Parts: sequence; structure tokens; C-alpha cells
Amino acid sequence: MGGFALEEHLSTTGTVVDRGLEGVVVGSTVLSNVEGQIGRLTYRGYDIDDLAPNASFEEIVHLLLYGHLPTAEELESLKRELAARAGLPQPLIAAMQSVPKTAWPMDVMRTIVSGLALFSPVNAKGEHVSDVHGAIELIAKMTTILAAWDRIRRGLDPIEPRSDLSHAANFLYMRTGKVPSEIEEDAVDTYLVLLADHSYNASTFSARVTSSTRADIYASVTAALATLTGDLHGGAASASYTNLVAIGKPENAEKFVRDELAKGNRIMGMGHREYRVRDPRAKHLDAIAKKLSEYRGDTNWYAIARELENASNKVLQEAKPDRKIYANVDFYTAPVLADLGLPGDEFTCLFACGRIAGWSAHVLEQLHDNRLIRPQAAYVGPPPGPYVPVEQRTGGAVPTGA
Ligand code: COA
Repeated sequence: MGGFALEEHLSTTGTVVDRGLEGVVVGSTVLSNVEGQIGRLTYRGYDIDDLAPNASFEEIVHLLLYGHLPTAEELESLKRELAARAGLPQPLIAAMQSVPKTAWPMDVMRTIVSGLALFSPVNAKGEHVSDVHGAIELIAKMTTILAAWDRIRRGLDPIEPRSDLSHAANFLYMRTGKVPSEIEEDAVDTYLVLLADHSYNASTFSARVTSSTRADIYASVTAALATLTGDLHGGAASASYTNLVAIGKPENAEKFVRDELAKGNRIMGMGHREYRVRDPRAKHLDAIAKKLSEYRGDTNWYAIARELENASNKVLQEAKPDRKIYANVDFYTAPVLADLGLPGDEFTCLFACGRIAGWSAHVLEQLHDNRLIRPQAAYVGPPPGPYVPVEQRTGGAVPTGA
């Protein structure tokens, strides 16, 4: 339709276009490193294989925001600050109580996080201050928002956070009103640790792009939340659960995979832009899912997930022999969170409750040494042409230029 072909554009301009920015380095970070070929993820040099079984989410928050693992005293101080900041402004609770109970949890979370800006202090210039305390504020409040919405949509009153519980235990307590067992608390804690950061993933990049305009931390995190929503990114966590439900029992897994591929669908929770091996976070979540399911005395979700992974590996290997597609972090998120009793449409929200640590650390890193992020596009539309007055337009015609 009168446009340049992309190839022509590239050959005449010498431009390189990487669709999806695959392999393009757009900035630097000291926060985390993804080594996709060997399946290693590190936060500030610490391997998640060491962090997942040993460190609490609060320690990871400290590591990401302050640059080092906390001393016992620093950890206590951070816990106190998180507890002090976990409550929500009453008007935001009232706002949640006034929206339809059918509202999608990610829409609610994004809206309420954005609304937090309305209640945050401003400096003499009328701007919100994007600093480490603003970051802790957001980290503290995200789980409160999710737990509150979870109760409100069930017709229950929200429960105030407690100051004597860990961040993970507090989330479960605010959701159910019961202090969780150690197994449940550990499951949420390790889940949050594993999700805390992942270099320049789409939502983090979105946060950094927004920050690079000198927008504040609330705007940047709201942008990140919007980006996390889609099922090629964090939305895959909820979509993986939908698959478990659709499969129903382990022996249906292979047929499900074949049917999905025949319909041109992707298997949610499988594949990754960076990893060419199984996502290093998947083995931890696999182990947690197994432990939780045995604790509950109902191993159905875990058994379906195991069989789905086996079937996906087999069928995808046949269908896409050139592409290494293995389980990613969202795959075993589904049985873990299902066994914790969370509704499937809240899974992406809990992902956000972990990733907020990384988002906010990336926002501060971006602001510390900022340059506007503004890439180029290869123009492949029509060449320049004259403006056509409205009475001379025939409709649909594309100006072709002189
Ligand atoms: N199921 C089926 N096929 C898949 C697949 C999946 N989960 N993941 C990738 N593929 C296939 C694609 O169809 C494509 O095949 P084609 O070349 O024949 O068209 C090929 O592998 C490459 O996919 P592409 O979309 O170019 O790779 P990407 O690097 O952009 O994709 C993901 C990465 C994560 C978007 C992709 O693996 C995916 O869609 N996974 C499912 C969603 C998901 O779990 N997202 C969470 C990621 S943490």
C-alpha cells in the first residue's frame, strides 16, 4: 500500500531492526543478571539457588535497595519500616469497596497503586520524592492491596496488617485472618524471593522507560504493573492455572498440549526469551509445589503440572526442534499458588508483590544516572506526499508523493 518494505528500508539506511529487542543491550544494571544459556540468575552477585532456601524476602529487599545483605540490626529496622508502611489510606479501601466485585484483580491493583500517589507526600516543588523510603512504602503496601481486594471481592472486610509477622505471613494473615503454618509462610516467602528481580524484563524496562522521563516512582510502577498484565509476561501465571483447570487430571495433559498447539496456541508457562534451559526458578517452585501439595494431602494440581511439563517438553521438542522451550517461572507458580488457596486471577498480582522489589530498585538506579530512553523506529509507511483538502479526498487512497 505505497509503503517502504522493511527490507528496502534496512538496506538503504543500514539500520538494524531487532523485533522485540531480542539480544539488544539497552542499558546496564548492578541489580540482577540472567545467564540464559546456563540457567543462572543472580541478585547483586548472589545466586538465587543460595538465596531461595536461605534468605527472606525482606533480606532481598534490603539487598536490592541498599546494595548489601542486611545485618541483623538493619533487617530489624527494615522490617519495622515495612510494618509501619503496610496500611492503606482509608479512601483507597473505600474505593476498592465501591468497584464491581467482578473487577479483574490486576486492574484493581494497578488502579490502587496509582492512587497511592494521591496520598504520598510532595516536596516544595509539588513533586513526589522517589527515594528508598518511597520504594519501601510501595513494597509494603502491595500485599496489603492484594489481600484487601481478595477479601472485599468475597464480601468480607479487609484485615489490618500486623507488625509482628513477616511480610509473607502478613499477606496470608490479611487474606484469611489466620496466622499461616510455617510451610505456607515459607512457600510465599520463597516465591517472593524468586520473583524479586529479573534484569530488563518487559515490566522492569517499562518502569525504567517511564522513570527516564523523570516521572516519579508511582507513575513508573503503575506502568510496570500494566506491562506485567499480558500473558506473554506475568499474565502467564494466571493462564497456567487456567490450563491446570482445563486439563483436570494428569492423564489428559498430553492431549491438551497437542490440541493447544493444533489451535495455534502457546503453552503458558513454557518458553522464555532468555533461558535456553529450564528456568532456574522453576526447580525451586517445583519443590515447593510438591511439598505444599503433600502438606495439603491433595496432590492433584502438582501431579497435573508435572505431567504437563513432561508432555510439553516432549510435544514442543517434536513441534519446534530448533527452539529450546522449557518451563519458566510461571509454570510451577500455578500449583504453588493454587495449593495456597489463591484464586487463579490473583496469581499475576502476587507476582507483582515480589517484582515490586526489583521495579523500585530499578527506578532508583535509573534516576541515579538518568538519560531519556528514546529509541528509533524504521519508518515503513508511505513516502512524503501533499496534503489533500477534504473535498478532494476519494477515501482510502494513500498519497504516493510527487
Ligand atoms: N508454546 C508453544 N510455542 C512456543 C512457546 C510456547 N510456550 N514459546 C515459544 N514458542 C514458539 C513460538 O511459537 C515460535 O515459533 P515459530 O518460530 O514457529 O513462530 C518460537 O517458539 C519462538 O517464539 P517467540 O515468540 O519468537 O520467542 P520469544 O523469545 O519472543 O518468546 C515467550 C518468549 C516467553 C513470549 C514465549 O516463550 C511464550 O509465549 N511463552 C508462553 C507465555 C509465557 O509463559 N510467558 C511467561 C514468560 S516468563
